[in-house]
Amino acid sequence: MPEPIKVATVGEIEDESAIVVDGTTSGTGEDIAVFFSDDTYYAIDDTCTHQDASLAEGWVEGDEVECPVHAARFSLCTGAALCLPATVAVKTHKVELRGDEVWLHPGVPADKG
Ligand code: FES
Repeated sequence: MPEPIKVATVGEIEDESAIVVDGTTSGTGEDIAVFFSDDTYYAIDDTCTHQDASLAEGWVEGDEVECPVHAARFSLCTGAALCLPATVAVKTHKVELRGDEVWLHPGVPADKG
């Protein structure tokens, strides 16, 4: 399992936006998008499961993101695909706040440990 990594400090990720941690840095081989919305941090795999699009470039509303290419929506909490054309969930990753530091646990599902 890759080590946790510090990806930002509080305030660096603007509301309803995301940063991308590339697959080499994350250690998972997959780019991971870290979102901030409604005072909460979320992390999911950045690549849409429909085709090759960056979800970090999508539109965020509450705990959902809409793919910028064909408008499938995903839950930032569970990774579930909420509407067509995507039918496969993206993976979630745990995000932890340590003081004002935002730490990503690549490969650890958001609802675990
Ligand atoms: S690439 Fe995301 S919905 Fe098609």
